[in-house]
Amino acid sequence: MNDFADRFTKVLAPVAAYDSDIRIVASDGVWVEDDAGNRYLDFACGISVTNLGHQHPGVKAAVLEQIDQLWHAGGSFKYESKLRAAEALAEVTPDGIDQFLFMNSGAESVEAAVKLARKTSGRQGVIVFRGGFHGRTMGSVTYTTSKAKYRQGYHPLVPSVFVTPFPHPYAWQMDQKEADERAIDELRRMFRHEVLPSEVAAFLVEPVQGEGGYYPASPAFLAELRRMADESGILLILDEVQTGFGRTGDWFAADVLGVRPDILVLGKAIANGFPLSAVGASAEIYDEWPPGSHGTTFGGNPVSCAAATATVEALHEVIPTVGPLSAHAFGRFNEMAERFETIRDVRGLGLMVGVEMGYEDGTPNPDALVFVRQYAQDRGMFILACGPDANVIRFIPPLVVTKDDLDHGIDLLEEAVAAYEAQ
Ligand SMILES: Cc1ncc(COP(=O)(O)O)c(C=O)c1O
Repeated sequence: MNDFADRFTKVLAPVAAYDSDIRIVASDGVWVEDDAGNRYLDFACGISVTNLGHQHPGVKAAVLEQIDQLWHAGGSFKYESKLRAAEALAEVTPDGIDQFLFMNSGAESVEAAVKLARKTSGRQGVIVFRGGFHGRTMGSVTYTTSKAKYRQGYHPLVPSVFVTPFPHPYAWQMDQKEADERAIDELRRMFRHEVLPSEVAAFLVEPVQGEGGYYPASPAFLAELRRMADESGILLILDEVQTGFGRTGDWFAADVLGVRPDILVLGKAIANGFPLSAVGASAEIYDEWPPGSHGTTFGGNPVSCAAATATVEALHEVIPTVGPLSAHAFGRFNEMAERFETIRDVRGLGLMVGVEMGYEDGTPNPDALVFVRQYAQDRGMFILACGPDANVIRFIPPLVVTKDDLDHGIDLLEEAVAAYEAQ
């Protein structure tokens, strides 16, 4: 082991599941660089965060300016950069989302969103969807069902949380419509057998399941959730921590899929790498949450807020380019799926592309994913895995990627799958 790896292992807890000993020392645009001068296409995007790439000049300038003025004040103080970030978000979030509470991480904002729903509705029940990922804190891991491992050993979890199926057409070997009907049918059964709608504070749902395997919800499924929510006074919480800020081809997946959230959870790409998250809702909902019922020391940090405002500003120009890049990427992956036995399904939305690796009989093939991921990394590209069996390639290039770099990344994956099948 080299000195860096050795020192690292001594003082850093292994639970974070470090995948390699690569020592990242520099970054630029879609690239990161290690201490040996090797360059990697960062198509893991810092786990879906750096939508504008690394070292974005607009974000950097805003951060440096803010550091000169004020870098901490405390969650209950008023300052300009927090106001500007909220104003910028209000402009781009769906209608009806006009006030924001800032936190630091996605999990914290999920927690806040559920507390908001419980407190203001006076109801306890929360309905979550199997395969969802909402974070790792005690509450958010209760809402997380993408992998049983994430919950193992942490019981008892938060009470009155009910899990219902999310439509997974590929896993269920059904078309989207049949899968939607099955999921809605199960939800109706839940209301008959387990919890009355009148006891449910919120549906908490990802419009595209990320960690769970890159399954997009259909507009019809979300419309039915919206209808049921309206019928029973349930709040619809959309977790757009992973899908937000242009990733799906518009500002939010809610825009692409045509659904109106009551509460919107934001994180990851919100400040292009500076720690920030937010819970958005209408003023009517927030008016019901008494001051002091929730709070934070660091949430809405001035520097992170300045980064968020600059990020939103820059994304205005970038988002229109996502559609064509997405069409190109899906075209290529779908064509590969016809040629390679190991690729069983290609799905996702925008530049959130999931490529399911399986055996001929359709069972998941996580070994292929490990091979492909290592192959790509050895030749200069980071990708991630997702899905309960860790067999789905999670391909999430920065939204500022050029077509050439995008093709280079897809070429590498094509080569990797060919090498896997040739073994
Ligand atoms: C949809 C979704 N919600 C919540 C989270 C949790 O965010 P964080 O890791 O910032 O707590 C994640 C993280 O991957 C996520 O993808």
